[in-house]
Amino acid sequence: MALEKIFQPLKIGPITVPNRVTRSAHGGLEMSPRMTDDYIAYHARRGSGGCGLTILGAASVHPSSMLYPYGLFYDGIVDDYRRLMAAVEPSPMKVFAQLWHGGNLYPAQDGGPPWAVSDVPGMTGLVGQRMSEAMIEEVIGAYVRCARHARDGGLHGIEIHAAHGYLPQQFLSEIYNDRADGWGGSLENRMRFLLEIVRQVRSAVGGTMAVGVRLAASDMPGGVDEGINIKVLERLQAENLIDYVNISRGDYYRMDTMVGAMQNPTGYEVPSSGTIAAAATVPRLLAGRYRTLDDAEQLLRDGTADLVSMVRAQIADPDLVNKTREGRALEVRPCIGCNQHFRGGRWGCAVNAAAGIESRYDEALITLTETPRKVLVVGGGPAGLEAARVAAMRGHKVTLCEASPRLGGQLDIARLAPHSAGFGDIALWLEAEVYRLGVEVRLNTFMEEDEVIAEMADHVIVATGSVPRMDAQQHTLPSQLVPGADMPHVVSTAELLREKKPRGRTALVLDTVGDYEGLAATEHLLAQGLSVTYVTAQAALAWKNERSLAAWERFQALGGFTLLVRHHLVEIRENDVMVRPYLAAMQQVTAVPADTVVLITPNKPLREIHEALAPGNPNIRIVGDAREPRDLLRAIWEGHAAAREIH
Ligand SMILES: Cc1cc2nc3c(=O)[nH]c(=O)nc-3n(C[C@H](O)[C@H](O)[C@H](O)COP(=O)(O)O)c2cc1C
Ligand code: SF4
Repeated sequence: MALEKIFQPLKIGPITVPNRVTRSAHGGLEMSPRMTDDYIAYHARRGSGGCGLTILGAASVHPSSMLYPYGLFYDGIVDDYRRLMAAVEPSPMKVFAQLWHGGNLYPAQDGGPPWAVSDVPGMTGLVGQRMSEAMIEEVIGAYVRCARHARDGGLHGIEIHAAHGYLPQQFLSEIYNDRADGWGGSLENRMRFLLEIVRQVRSAVGGTMAVGVRLAASDMPGGVDEGINIKVLERLQAENLIDYVNISRGDYYRMDTMVGAMQNPTGYEVPSSGTIAAAATVPRLLAGRYRTLDDAEQLLRDGTADLVSMVRAQIADPDLVNKTREGRALEVRPCIGCNQHFRGGRWGCAVNAAAGIESRYDEALITLTETPRKVLVVGGGPAGLEAARVAAMRGHKVTLCEASPRLGGQLDIARLAPHSAGFGDIALWLEAEVYRLGVEVRLNTFMEEDEVIAEMADHVIVATGSVPRMDAQQHTLPSQLVPGADMPHVVSTAELLREKKPRGRTALVLDTVGDYEGLAATEHLLAQGLSVTYVTAQAALAWKNERSLAAWERFQALGGFTLLVRHHLVEIRENDVMVRPYLAAMQQVTAVPADTVVLITPNKPLREIHEALAPGNPNIRIVGDAREPRDLLRAIWEGHAAAREIH
């Protein structure tokens, strides 16, 4: 598709953005009370990559509700904004601040109850402190003060966050706003809080800065729907209060519509956000898993939006815009919609190891080595592929040996599960990149220790991965041996997805890991028409996984699903499995029908090469599942870091 509209500038009030690619607000880098160098480097990097407009992550205007330790009201923020703008300056990207107050969703800075529209409990279970007239005026004043800070710091625009169930939307809500004063009751009164904020912010900074709001319809029964959002938008426009509108979808009732994942198609928000956008007379910014400029161009051509938010697409690859403009769209690293941002002990991205730490790890900082080494990578899963890719970028001579006939490792299995094709996207990208960068790839090549030695590599990266244990080891009850685990109808997720048709009409999935596999196996079996009982010793379905709510919804729709939490397996038999409640008496066992049994327990790492060769040799490194079976984010990070260590 010819890219025409996406590269056109657009006037938003008093400012002009250089193109239509936007990064609507996202948080995660606000864990320190002040703006950090990483925060600055992150945004500057999106500017140098070609993004037209960045909206800084939501942050609080007042200590009475805090999303992160970072708030927009601290002494010195103006200087920090100036440092940020100086770093962004070489690029034409515009920068807006998003002003936020969480109301009943997030606690006050001192950990106490947040200020809220009422004391109706919020979606996170907090009971807010009903704001008095004076408190309301104080918070409105805080929005204005924070807008002035942004103006004094040189930012280009202000966005009032009135979406996702936060305080302004709580005022709009008939559920949370039960007030009988001038701030509650009729919609006109319920809008007053937002209108008053925007009026005062606009009169303080309008004319020099763009002013907009973020709106969104809730999926919650009785929530702030599209109709209410349209009336609010019309009112804001009638008073000429906004220069643009940013329309999202969802709230904390279901986070999976607010930040859709692998199961959501491109443009999944548009059926809702597009309805609201149709009432706009100001420029409209829409989001929803837009991953390529072709996708974004199409939305602009449809006339549904004037700006396209590509948040995660630019987390995954900050050079998305420039690479595409230069005809290198196939080199854009894809966002796979996994939402694994908070897994690695810091905010980050599963596929882009440098996200959030650009000041030290940006790929633009990778330079060709003056001492090219011979590097052998053993294993072609995500950790090995990333290690090979980065080592090749540095100019080393890299050989990658993979035992199987295909690259991808666990990704090659994960992509087979329903709604999980995204895993295949990153495997394909890594594969294409290692070939493009000249890595010598040897498939069907199982390496023994002596063969590794015979390669005479200067550096070896062991990325041999892991395999299922298949002994029904339950780490919450390690003394409980489970007879029957060796029967032929007991399978791993890999066997189930790749080769084995499930036996019979009923199945049991034991999940002691709590991540993708449990969801994948369950959905695969349900889709084949089996009734499935998911058993875990924990208190929830796939408790570590970011996509479990959406999966739960699909399981209900498919039917035949039973969730059995806080249970252990006791014995696997021919057509059923004996289970027992956690901590219950030995004799308290019941039988769950199961013609097929899937065991999901932590994998066994394949560390033999490392154990044999690494002692005393710092040039032999181990990464990914071979080091410890975990997840994609850590596999890619370790492969990346290991390759960068080679000198
Ligand atoms: C880690 C993360 C944090 C987010 N934080 C915010 C936020 O602070 N304010 C906001 O309005 N939206 C926030 N969002 C939502 C995004 O602005 C955007 O609507 C969403 O990611 C969908 O767009 P995408 O598919 O292009 O990523 C966040 C999204 C992510 C992934
Ligand atoms: S963590 Fe996953 S969803 Fe988030 S940007 Fe990276 S690939 Fe996309």
